[in-house]
Amino acid sequence: LFASVEMAPRDPILGLNEQFNADTNPNKVNLGVGVYTDDQGKLPLLKCVAAAEKQMSETLKPRGYLPIDGIAAYDKAVQGLVFGAEHPAVKGGRIATAQAIGGTGGLKLGADFLKRLQPNATVLISDPSWENHRALFESAGFPVDTYPYYDAANRGINFDGMLAKLKASPAGTIVVLHACCHNPTGYDLTDAQWDEVINVVKAQGLVAFLDMAYQGFGNGIAEDGAVVLKFLEAGLSFFVSTSFSKSFSLYGERVGALSIVSETAEECARVLSQLKRVIRTNYSNPPTHGAQVVATVLSTPELRAMWEDELAGMRDRIKLMRTALVNELTAAGVQGDLSYITRQKGMFSYSGLNAAQMQRLRSEFGIYGVDSGRICVAALNTGNLKAVAAAIKAVM
Ligand code: LMR
Repeated sequence: LFASVEMAPRDPILGLNEQFNADTNPNKVNLGVGVYTDDQGKLPLLKCVAAAEKQMSETLKPRGYLPIDGIAAYDKAVQGLVFGAEHPAVKGGRIATAQAIGGTGGLKLGADFLKRLQPNATVLISDPSWENHRALFESAGFPVDTYPYYDAANRGINFDGMLAKLKASPAGTIVVLHACCHNPTGYDLTDAQWDEVINVVKAQGLVAFLDMAYQGFGNGIAEDGAVVLKFLEAGLSFFVSTSFSKSFSLYGERVGALSIVSETAEECARVLSQLKRVIRTNYSNPPTHGAQVVATVLSTPELRAMWEDELAGMRDRIKLMRTALVNELTAAGVQGDLSYITRQKGMFSYSGLNAAQMQRLRSEFGIYGVDSGRICVAALNTGNLKAVAAAIKAVM
């Protein structure tokens, strides 16, 4: 039966974890996967999460099935966070939100739903994009093409190229957009550029799918989420996938959501009914624990304030590490303008190193980054910075 099964390549991101774990170099540093670790190099358990879990453990509940679309209080909390609890679209019942298995799960639900709705559409992702975007939409049956995004020469965004591609795309084309903290480049559109993108999406009849996996890691929770409100104000129907893996440090709990904005409450009810069929045929209904934690934190004012503080702490430390990386690279003798490192937002820095250089970083120095040149600055700390900077200098 399996004689013809070929060995699949390692996952470009998660496969690095496997390689990292097997590496015996005592000085190894994992800057591959997008995971935040503190200055001691430890994965944090947020205090707000521990407090919510303590509260939950004091009133232990039996584990029945959840509704197909997840915990109602969780879905409501996600809507409040992403769209604003008082927004007319929320109040008017125009948004369907379903709990999902992480942000990836949210994307997959949206992709499967869209495949039933727009079977002949093409999906556009940014060039470059998160490695899994292409594979995920292709596995849902879509052809996947790219729109220009990274401008290597100017260390920024090729916005004219991006807009031209969107303008040349037929109605119904699905456009995956990174709501904030672009993965992998760290370069985000300005407010004015988002307005232009939204105008084109509207004029061309494109279907926007916002991937929001890093809300709160750029400029702040509200600031990073502002683009979603722009899409709402434009009166568009669109998709948003949400992840709490990073913002709650709940990677292994797989807590995410998919929200779909419709034109009317009646339309929204039909959309949700179809979305539930997608969920039912994929994994029936979602798990309880992580979503219950997030719902408890978001809906308990003291815990919510604690979370916002802890998220701000992670964001600020990443910014410190960006500045420190610039200083260490300069001290190591790297020439040129390194200010792009502090202009980039979120967990990643797109270093400009090529695949051969990234492989040398791994094999000679035990420093793991993605072959695209992406390094996770959220995993830098005062203990590993110098070694990382020296290694980067050595492979340049
Ligand atoms: C990443 O880009 O490193 C994260 O989103 C983790 C993942 O699933 O790839």
